[in-house]
Amino acid sequence: MNKTIQEDNLHVLYDEDTLAGCVKTLAGKISEAGYENLLVISVLKGSFIFAADLIRALHYAGLAPEVEFISLSSYGAGTTSSGTVRVVRDIESDVAGRDVLLIDDILESGRTISFARDLMLKRGARRADIAVLLDKAEKRVVPLEADFVGFSCPDLFVVGYGMDKAHAYRQLPFVGYLDS
Ligand code: IMP
Ligand code: MG
Repeated sequence: MNKTIQEDNLHVLYDEDTLAGCVKTLAGKISEAGYENLLVISVLKGSFIFAADLIRALHYAGLAPEVEFISLSSYGAGTTSSGTVRVVRDIESDVAGRDVLLIDDILESGRTISFARDLMLKRGARRADIAVLLDKAEKRVVPLEADFVGFSCPDLFVVGYGMDKAHAYRQLPFVGYLDS
């Protein structure tokens, strides 16, 4: 038994089956959105597991996207956003004239993903849409909605399925929350 799963203050919010169902539903919706020559951009680090699952589900839904990664940072090692977003590692593809779908783990203040979308539009993307696993709508600072949302998430600090607290818990196969 993994010792992290035995931690008293870690609780399951969305289990593996729930996540798998959600990813399949999202892929179906994305496949019906009329994208051409789609470039999917996974926003690292938090989205890496969600993106890996969603990209495979997109294949089964009939799409053949190209895949890129951008590493953005708005958090330090703590649990509150610093408010400034910076590019830690950029994509390598030219997005001019392309349909882009940004994949992120959580939409909270909106700062991270609005920065990424503005960057892609400034570079000439034809369309820069957003897919997120979790939406914490109450915490929004920048007015922005995602085009595809897995779950509306309660205002809890969540971990697992790629998401971290101070670099820990990313490996968990479920989304959990910490109550301390
Ligand atoms: P935003 O810029 O405030 O929308 O923050 C979004 C980013 O903050 C996400 O991509 C996550 O990486 C991180 N984040 C926000 N809430 C949580 C959380 O509850 N757990 C882990 N990371 C989070
Ligand atoms: Mg993130």
